[in-house]
Amino acid sequence: MFVAAVAGVQGALVSIVSELAAANHGVLLFDHYLSVVRAESDLPVSRRPRPVRPLRRGIELPDVWFRYDDEHPWVLRGVDLFIPCGHSVALVGRNGCGKSTLVKLLCRFYDPTRGSIRWDGADLRDVPVADLRIHPTIAGLPRGYDTLLTRVFLGASDGADATAGVVLSGGQWQRVALARGLLRRQPDLMILDEPSAGLDAEAEHEVHSRLREHRRGRTSLLISHRLSAGRDADAIAVLAGGELVEQGTHGELMAGGSEYARLFTLQASGYERPMAGRP
Ligand SMILES: Nc1ncnc2c1ncn2[C@@H]1O[C@H](COP(=O)(O)OP(=O)(O)O)[C@@H](O)[C@H]1O
Ligand SMILES: [Mg+2]
Repeated sequence: MFVAAVAGVQGALVSIVSELAAANHGVLLFDHYLSVVRAESDLPVSRRPRPVRPLRRGIELPDVWFRYDDEHPWVLRGVDLFIPCGHSVALVGRNGCGKSTLVKLLCRFYDPTRGSIRWDGADLRDVPVADLRIHPTIAGLPRGYDTLLTRVFLGASDGADATAGVVLSGGQWQRVALARGLLRRQPDLMILDEPSAGLDAEAEHEVHSRLREHRRGRTSLLISHRLSAGRDADAIAVLAGGELVEQGTHGELMAGGSEYARLFTLQASGYERPMAGRP
């Protein structure tokens, strides 16, 4: 009996210690949670906020300079771009030239280091960040904020419930994201940053022909490594070394012996060139 009692007390002590360790872990995680929930906005909040109104005239980027911080080099150096309301603009340029950075500024993930972005003349800095982001879209999902687009976080009790979470491949994710974009009735501005990068050849073709239809008469900015996708845009802007180096329609740029023409011809030749030694 004595030996059994000692063993019992020992077992109880072990479980108390492990419970304490687990509780400690929980408290540490809760701390992370609190720091995320209580984090202040990293963007300055305007003292005179203005609501975003439906786009009428267009979006101006007059002399926009941007770098991620003082130690980093300039990514955008005095970009002058106007996206007129109802026009599609294609933005092209080499990897790392700052196309996605420009998109991040348009979505106000960052503010320009110098210059400003003007939505019908109103500085984006004066627009409350919450107005630019996501809430109604998420609230509209079948389970609202509870819809999981992953199964990583499911508990044991959710096991058999297929609606509790779904796993999407990279390409499927992209199509869901696109579908969400296309479902909006009156999008003021549609930004498509490499919308087909992860898609197979057929899906890519389908997506670009759909987008061509959808972009007609709507304000949009398309970024694509597939230059043919932006061919019929109302304007094509070429970014290089942080500056806008060329701007015009496909026809104008192709006629002028531009960098765009060089890249376009280079890409097209890859599809036309016969393979050596094959009929
Ligand atoms: N979060 C970041 N912090 C620091 N530098 C970044 C960050 N994101 C992108 N960059 C740098 O900014 C430059 C432009 O990147 P990006 O806009 O993504 O190019 P792309 O034209 O290929 O979309 C690159 O040199 C990249 O290394
Ligand atoms: Mg990019």
